Amino acid sequence: MEQKTRRKKRSKGPNILTKYFVKYKFHYLIGIVALIAVNIINLRIPLITGRITDGLQSGLYTYNDIQHEVLTLLLIGFSIACIRFVWRYFIFGTSRKIEYGLRNDFFSHLEKLSTRFFNENKTGDLMALATNDLNAIRMMVGPGILMALDAIGLTVLVIYKMSTAISVKLTLISIIPLPIIAIGSLLLGKSIRARFKDKQEAFSHMSDLVQENISGIKVIKAFVQESKQTLEFNKTNRNNYNKNMRVIKVYAIMMPMAMLVTGLSITIILGYGGYITILGRITLGEFVAFIQYLLMLVWPMIAFGWCINIMSQGMASFARFTNILNEKPDIIDEETVKEIDNIKGDIRINNLTFSYPGSENNELENINISIDKGETIGIVGRTGSGKTTLVNMLLRLYNPSRNEIFIDDTDIMDIPLSVLRNAVGYVPQDNFLFSDTISRNIAFGVDGSTNELVQQAAKDANVHDNIMEFTDKYETVVGERGVTLSGGQKQRVAIARALIKKPAIMILDDSVSAVDTNTEEQILSHIKEERKDKTTIIIAHRISTVQNSDKIIVLDEGKILEVGKHIELLDKKGLYYDMVQKQQLEKELEEE
Ligand SMILES: Nc1ncnc2c1ncn2[C@@H]1O[C@H](COP(=O)(O)OP(=O)(O)OP(=O)(O)O)[C@@H](O)[C@H]1O
Ligand SMILES: [Mg+2]
Repeated sequence: MEQKTRRKKRSKGPNILTKYFVKYKFHYLIGIVALIAVNIINLRIPLITGRITDGLQSGLYTYNDIQHEVLTLLLIGFSIACIRFVWRYFIFGTSRKIEYGLRNDFFSHLEKLSTRFFNENKTGDLMALATNDLNAIRMMVGPGILMALDAIGLTVLVIYKMSTAISVKLTLISIIPLPIIAIGSLLLGKSIRARFKDKQEAFSHMSDLVQENISGIKVIKAFVQESKQTLEFNKTNRNNYNKNMRVIKVYAIMMPMAMLVTGLSITIILGYGGYITILGRITLGEFVAFIQYLLMLVWPMIAFGWCINIMSQGMASFARFTNILNEKPDIIDEETVKEIDNIKGDIRINNLTFSYPGSENNELENINISIDKGETIGIVGRTGSGKTTLVNMLLRLYNPSRNEIFIDDTDIMDIPLSVLRNAVGYVPQDNFLFSDTISRNIAFGVDGSTNELVQQAAKDANVHDNIMEFTDKYETVVGERGVTLSGGQKQRVAIARALIKKPAIMILDDSVSAVDTNTEEQILSHIKEERKDKTTIIIAHRISTVQNSDKIIVLDEGKILEVGKHIELLDKKGLYYDMVQKQQLEKELEEE
C-alpha cells in the first residue's frame, strides 16, 4: 500500500519540471544552438592544424599562408569565447530561474498544507529539501542537461567529421570503447542514485537535529545536556559523513575508469594510426588532425560519467521534492462551499466526535454545544481534556465530519476557509509571535491598520503601558533579533493581535494564565465592553477567568461533563465545584 501510494505520488512528479522546461524552452533553445555552434566551430581547428602540418611538410607553405591560418585560429578562438558566454548565461541562468520558481512553489505549497502535515514532517527536513535537494535539482536542469547534450552532440559531430574527413576505419576502431563506458556509467549511476538518496536523508536528519538544538537551547542548558547533545550531534554528523563517503567511493571509481578506458583506446588507436600513416594511407596532416579529434572525444567520455552522477543525484532529490509537492492539503474549500462573505457568530455543535489522525482514542466525544451570537462561553477542564482540540475544530485546523459543526446554521465544511478564519480571532495557547516589531505583530492579521488601531488593541489587552516602557516602544523587535517578552507580555500582545481584527468569534486559549488576577480582570472587562454583541470563547484553568461567562462548559476526557452558569455549576457539586474549592484553598494558602 505504502509502495503503491509512493509510486502514484512520484508518477505526477515530472509535470512540475515540464512546466518549467516549457516556460523556458527558448532559453534552452538559444543555449543549445550556441552550444552546437561552439562545437561546429571547434571542429575546424584539427583540420587547420592538419593543413599546417601538411603544408609545412611539403615545404610549399609561405609566411603569408601561416599568417592567414593563425588569424583564422585567433578568430575561431575569439568567437568560441563569445558564444560560450551565451550558452553558459542562458543554460546556467535558466537553471537558477527554475530553482527560484521551484523554491517559490515549494514554499507556497507548504503554506497550504494542514497542521497534520507539520506534525508529521520535521522542520529541518523541510529546510534541507528547500536548500540541499533543490541545489541538486538545479545542477540537474542546468549543468547536467548541458553537459549531457554537449557530450552527445560533440561525440556525434566528432565521429562524423573523423569519418568523412579522415578515415572510416580509424573512426570505427576509435568508437569501440564508447559502449563500454556508457554501460559502466549507467550501472554506476543506479548505485549513485540510491546512495545519494541516503546521503540527502542523512543531511536532513542532521539539519533537523541542529534546528531542534538551537530552538531548545534553554532546555538543553537547564538540564545540563550540552555534552550529551554534542555527542548525539557527532553521531549524526558521522552518519552524514559516512553516507557522503559512500557516494564519493562510487564517483571515485567512475572517473578513473572512464579515463583509463579512454586512455587505453587512444593509445591503441595512436599505434594503428601511426602504422597506416607510415604505409601512406593517410597523410601526416590527417594523422595530426585525427589525434586532435580523438582528444576532443576524451572530454565527452568523462562528461558522460559526470552527467550520470549529476542526473542521478538530481533525480533522487527530485523524487524527495515531489513527494512533498504532491502532498494534498487535506483542509481545503470543499466543492459544496457556499458563497458567504461574513459570519455573525452563532455556533452549534451536534454530536461532535473526533480523534486525531493515528490516535486510538476519541479526543472529543458526543459534544453538543449551542452558542448564540454575543455570548461569552467559558471552557474549563483538566489538562488534556480536549479544550484546545475543540477550538482547533472551530478553526478547522482539523476537519470535523459533516453535520457536526454549524456556524450561522451553515455546516462549517461549507464555509470558505478564508471567511471562517478571517471571522475568528484566535489567541493560541503558545502565544507564538514573529521575530518582528510589536506593532507589526499586532497588525499581523489585518490589512491597512493604523497606529491608533494598534495602540487601541494594545490598550484593550492591557499591554500598552508595558510597550511604552521599551526604548523603541511599538517598534521594539520581539524574539530572536530583539527583546524577549515575558510570558504575560507575550500573551497580551497575542490578545491584541486577535482583538484588532474585531472578529465575530474570538477564542482565547488559556490566554491570561500568565497575568495576575487584577490585570486579568481589566483585560476581561475591556473584552466584554469591546465585544458586547460578539461571540467570545474563553478557555482557562483559573475559575476566575470564566466565572462571569454566560455559559461554562466543563470538559473531561473529551466529554462535556457539566454545562451552566457559575452559580448553577456550583449547585451541581460536581467537577466544577471541586475545582472551585481547590482553587480557593490554594488562594487561601497563598495569602497566609
Ligand atoms: N496533534 C495531536 N495529535 C494527537 N493527539 C493529540 C494532538 N494534540 C493533542 N492531542 C491529544 O488530545 C488530547 C486533548 O488535548 P488538548 O490539547 O485538546 O487538551 P487541553 O484540554 O487543551 O489541555 P491543556 O489544558 O493542557 O491545554 C490529549 O490527550 C492530547 O494528548
Ligand atoms: Mg490546551
